[in-house]
Amino acid sequence: MAKSPSSQFVCQDCGAVTRKWAGKCEACGAWNSITEEAAREEVPKGLTAGKGKRIEFVGLEGSAAPLSRWQTGIGELDRVAGGGLVPGSCLLVGGDPGIGKSTLLLQATARLSSQVSVAYISGEEAVDQVRMRAARLGYAKAKVALASAGSLRDILASLDGPDAPQVVVIDSIQTVYADNIESAPGTVSQVRACAAELIRLAKRRGFVLFLVGHVTKEGTIAGPRVLEHMVDTVLYFEGDRGHQFRILRAVKNRFGATDEIGVFEMTEGGLAEVANPSALFLAERRGNVSGSCVFAGMEGTRPMLVEIQALVAPSSLSSPRRAVVGWDTNRLSMVLAVLDARCGLALSGNDVYLNVAGGLRIAEPAADLAVAAALVSSASDVPVPADMVVFGEIGLSGEVRAVAQADTRLKEAAKLGFAQALVPARPRKDKGGAAAGASPLAIRSIGHLQDVLGLFRHE
Ligand code: TYD
Ligand code: MG
Repeated sequence: MAKSPSSQFVCQDCGAVTRKWAGKCEACGAWNSITEEAAREEVPKGLTAGKGKRIEFVGLEGSAAPLSRWQTGIGELDRVAGGGLVPGSCLLVGGDPGIGKSTLLLQATARLSSQVSVAYISGEEAVDQVRMRAARLGYAKAKVALASAGSLRDILASLDGPDAPQVVVIDSIQTVYADNIESAPGTVSQVRACAAELIRLAKRRGFVLFLVGHVTKEGTIAGPRVLEHMVDTVLYFEGDRGHQFRILRAVKNRFGATDEIGVFEMTEGGLAEVANPSALFLAERRGNVSGSCVFAGMEGTRPMLVEIQALVAPSSLSSPRRAVVGWDTNRLSMVLAVLDARCGLALSGNDVYLNVAGGLRIAEPAADLAVAAALVSSASDVPVPADMVVFGEIGLSGEVRAVAQADTRLKEAAKLGFAQALVPARPRKDKGGAAAGASPLAIRSIGHLQDVLGLFRHE
């Protein structure tokens, strides 16, 4: 590829800039991700030499007006956003194509349109398509200003005025292009430049800006990982397309906590909020099957019960299969190693399959004990009692460690009709970790993983 003086080579995955084209990005290791783009303008030389104005420093103490927030009326979205939308902020909503981003934002804008003025700009769908979708969702009459556009210049011109809408959705940022940048829409330089302009306008005019971004198969918002630091809030919309559950997760939020998730169900009439996710995730569980165990987990401030399924089967392969859905493969290897080395349960000759039912992804170490129980139960073909929940972290010497918020987990389990809990022996000393004794459940506390094996032994 010939290099013109004003061009640079940019990795479309991580945004690293190089002078030469290469097949592999040195920064992130991605293959075939580098494309040629027009160089960004350098800072003019005179600017650094000249004298600037002194900025005024103030104390940290001072009166800041409390944030006013707009409620979308979709409780799950409001909670993940930190309690509503903050005027002038920018939210990036990422997710796989077809997961439901457009549906969610159309529903949110339609709801919002009763209190504030909203605009929905789609670069992916024609106006009629969006109308049809709105009609199907039951919002045909909502006062949403709708447009199908892609040119940044046109979009800025339409939004920059005293009558600017209060909420703007750009679906998606990859379809917006600035005509003074040579690269194709969706490339890093386009996405970065367009997002920067839109965000600047949002701050100046004080409107809430939603940017929709598609995600690559590696799980980053395509190209614009560079976008994540520019926006105030990054929300990922995830889920398995084979399941009806969708999870909205905040990975960055300048106006709230990032460990909250929102749970939705994709129905014929759009996304429905799920107020009690545990009941939903356990709906298809069949009791008294070996290899199935209910984990009492936490997602942010909310307890969530999920079923963990394990299948241990004899293997004919020289290196047996380890297949994991919804959990960390390395974590599974660790649990298997501890079972082998500390408890004498060798599964190295078996294929091991692990599945978190319902399409949820669990990141908590507190799931270790539930995974171990499911594995032991499957290997010994003794079911975990159907009315038992399990949680606890496993250390490398096989000790079962306490986890946070034991109380909340147990309360949720009791609410859903569980009668027993398998929990770490020593409660954690922080608040919310103790007081297992006050629980309505029968508590079985264990200190070492070895004891789990004893629980699931044929009599
Ligand atoms: P969409 O919002 O277009 O996804 P994205 O914008 O993330 O690409 O949602 C697409 C899927 O949702 C589509 O395959 C059909 C399904 N869907 C429903 O099941 N029910 C509905 O009411 C709507 C609007 C969509
Ligand atoms: Mg879409």
